Amino acid sequence: MKIVILGAAGGIGQGLALLLKAQLPVGSELALYDVNSITPGVAVDLSHIPTDVTVNGFSGKDPTLALLGADIVLIAAGIARKPGMARSDLFDVNAGIVRKLTEDIAHTCPKALVGIITNPVNSTVVISAETFKKAGVYNKNKLFGITTLDIIRARSFIAKLKNKVSENIKVPVIGGHSGVTILPLLSQIPDISLTESEIKTLTQSIQNAGTEVVKAKEGGGSATLSMAYAAALFCFSLVRALNGEKGIVEYAYVESDRKQYPRFFAQPVLLNENGIAEYKEIGALSAFEQKHLEKILDELNKDIGLAEQFNQ
Ligand SMILES: NC(=O)c1ccc[n+]([C@@H]2O[C@H](COP(=O)([O-])OP(=O)(O)OC[C@H]3O[C@@H](n4cnc5c(N)ncnc54)[C@H](O)[C@@H]3O)[C@@H](O)[C@H]2O)c1
Repeated sequence: MKIVILGAAGGIGQGLALLLKAQLPVGSELALYDVNSITPGVAVDLSHIPTDVTVNGFSGKDPTLALLGADIVLIAAGIARKPGMARSDLFDVNAGIVRKLTEDIAHTCPKALVGIITNPVNSTVVISAETFKKAGVYNKNKLFGITTLDIIRARSFIAKLKNKVSENIKVPVIGGHSGVTILPLLSQIPDISLTESEIKTLTQSIQNAGTEVVKAKEGGGSATLSMAYAAALFCFSLVRALNGEKGIVEYAYVESDRKQYPRFFAQPVLLNENGIAEYKEIGALSAFEQKHLEKILDELNKDIGLAEQFNQ
């Protein structure tokens, strides 16, 4: 199994590379690519960790060598938020980076599963889809916007509030990956009931969590370590599915043709060797969640439309 990280020298990229080097199955290959020339050095550093995962680092303008033979590609390349910025403010720079890297993937490893971390995820995933389409190799079952960070944040916040073990808490989060488009389904958490006021506060905390990190880092960037952990969890699920394990369900921002939702929407999907095997049911929403969902549809459609225009 070969996993490639694009943007591997960044805050997320390095943390993610460490987790993958430590925990990928024996015999896996990890390729790190970044325009930053320290990337081969990051690979040398990681290669001293005694696990049976090979690590190679590549820098320069062309990621082809890193991408050759990839089974999974994770894109974390691009700029991150500074205080006062919304994720959409990253569009102008990151849209072009994701388009170019997708062209490289389409050319070198078009059958790989692709996970996009680069923000604004609501739009960059669409840009990637349209770019694959232009290259004639789009498969909607193989492209994922990684929204796992919203899920692990929800799990952490609920565990703290209810004094429970976070590992045992399962929280569905649907919609998109920016502010109000993040919709945690707090009515669906097994064995936990929340008051109306707890639901309101928790929903806001989960939606604003990224901005809290940006503020706390005082100009030093956005969430990196928790995102690296989230992306690693998502990547391990992809690896297990590619290895034939059954029954793996993940929430991710993907394209589907469910009429009641925008073209791209974070939802639960069953994974197999080919990526998405099946779209799972979202389940019944509470009145609060239903009302919230109606409010976010316009916002998501706007983010998707902007990306569709960018690719025309
Ligand atoms: N999906 C999520 O939940 C989530 C969470 C946090 C951050 N993010 C996003 O992830 C992205 C990366 O964040 P970060 O904190 O690691 O940023 P960072 O600035 O620390 O790292 C980004 C890396 O991308 C590299 N890069 C830039 N252009 C490149 C290109 N064309 N090819 C290869 N590499 C390139 C840079 O050299 C840098 O090393 C940002 O867009 C951020 O908004 C997403």
